[in-house]
Amino acid sequence: MRILHVASEIFPLVKTGGLADVVAALPPALAKRGLDVRALLPGLPGVLDGIVGLRPVTRVGPVFGAASVTLCQGRLPDSGLPAYVIDAPFLFRREGNPYTGPDGNDWSDNHRRFGLLGWTAAHLASGELDPEWTPGVVHAHDWHTGLAPAYIMQNPGLKTPTVFTIHNLAFRGIFPMECHYDLDLPMHRANPRGMEFHGNISFMKAGLVYSSKITTVSPTYAREIRTPEFGCGLDGVMRDRAGDLSGILNGVDYAVWNPANTRTAKAYSVDDLAGKKVCKRALQLEFGLSTQARGPLFAVVSRLTSQKGMDLLLAVLPELLREDAQLVVLGTGDGDLEAGFRYAASVNPDKVAVCIGYDESMSHRFMAGADVLLVPSRFEPCGLTQLYALRYGTLPLVCRVGGLADTVVDVNDENLAADKATGFVFGEAARHALGARIREACGFYRDGGDAWTKVQQRAMRQDFSWNDSAANYERLYRELQARNAAGKED
Ligand code: ADP
Ligand code: GLC
Repeated sequence: MRILHVASEIFPLVKTGGLADVVAALPPALAKRGLDVRALLPGLPGVLDGIVGLRPVTRVGPVFGAASVTLCQGRLPDSGLPAYVIDAPFLFRREGNPYTGPDGNDWSDNHRRFGLLGWTAAHLASGELDPEWTPGVVHAHDWHTGLAPAYIMQNPGLKTPTVFTIHNLAFRGIFPMECHYDLDLPMHRANPRGMEFHGNISFMKAGLVYSSKITTVSPTYAREIRTPEFGCGLDGVMRDRAGDLSGILNGVDYAVWNPANTRTAKAYSVDDLAGKKVCKRALQLEFGLSTQARGPLFAVVSRLTSQKGMDLLLAVLPELLREDAQLVVLGTGDGDLEAGFRYAASVNPDKVAVCIGYDESMSHRFMAGADVLLVPSRFEPCGLTQLYALRYGTLPLVCRVGGLADTVVDVNDENLAADKATGFVFGEAARHALGARIREACGFYRDGGDAWTKVQQRAMRQDFSWNDSAANYERLYRELQARNAAGKED
């Protein structure tokens, strides 16, 4: 079974968030199950530099405003899986963030850049670009690839089934209606039954409307996005397509996220947690924090945005500090939140430390050194950092939404008695609820005795590897292929 994964980012070549981790880990997990998997990526600088043995397959010529577009092929650096790369220098050879320019605004031609990505997927599916390998299913990730199903549908002879995975519905890929003329799609695709969205067009909506199956990255988020509260204006579409929508939880690549690896000050494991104390002290010293605090060391590794509840955290910071707890923050995001955390660190230098930036290796040191990882998100399609924290014996403190609700079991009397608790869960993304749970976590840390260690060990034993999720995706592909084959016989 041949599966083409289409995405805009992939760890370690280009990463702005969890999407990159998933796109790096899911294809090898499927390949391990015997599937023939390839990736299709835009030729961003990190991709052109990182793919091994890149060579041209087909010269596509001038499309989407680019004078030269070449489809190349090489291998992914870690898994060795084949990857197609669209080398369109005018559109993709731009340094920095894949979506925004140096001024922080979206590139004005993003509709062309990601239109080309979807278009190329469709032309690979039709066999025009690489006759040697034609995918049986195209699996497209997030709005950047939302046009792949639309272009596939555009070709009446092409029946390739498509899976469209929502990683975050809040990013809908919205462009002015005029952009539609640059996309080489007929006008009726931009009507309200198609990709029209309040007078504009939405690439996310195209993916939702034209794909054969929709998945999202946790069962709870799959339910939430059918409601106005979480549906980002697309909940009606979700309800229409409810029969084709399912939630498949993301997994973790435990080869990358593992406290026994060398990225931390000292390796440790579930049977020997001594190294974790060394990691904590090293992190405190690295940031000039006191090593004498009686409360736990809380950490944040996150985009600093309101999705992630970072404004709530700033608001309750005085309560956290009153518990003689500490906070380390690694992240980038909204300017006012960055400034808020910087200020908090400047006035509490022995208790709060902030690193505004993106640093993969530091994120491992945070996971290993902290006692608690804070993820107070207002919504969270899956969330990966809480899964990483579990493996590092760093108890997640999360809001009960989306994938956070599906992966963290609250420390309460019932769950402790049943040997199930793995972290701290609060019910409502509100300041008082977060503050209360932080105080309770501090109390459990101070007074819980052995109970804290027991919860840590249980957290570390959780298995969120890709095996089950990959099996679920495989089932979906097989179902689509069977349906397709039956359709052809009719
Ligand atoms: P999202 O994709 O919504 O940002 P996830 O929890 O799914 O949230 O994934 C975030 C990913 O990005 C994780 O791998 C996390 O470790 C990483 N990450 C976020 N911020 C930073 C940062 N400032 N430095 C390093 N890694 C980060
Ligand atoms: C998105 C979501 C996050 C999810 C990630 C990977 O960025 O915000 O919750 O874990 O995609 O699917």
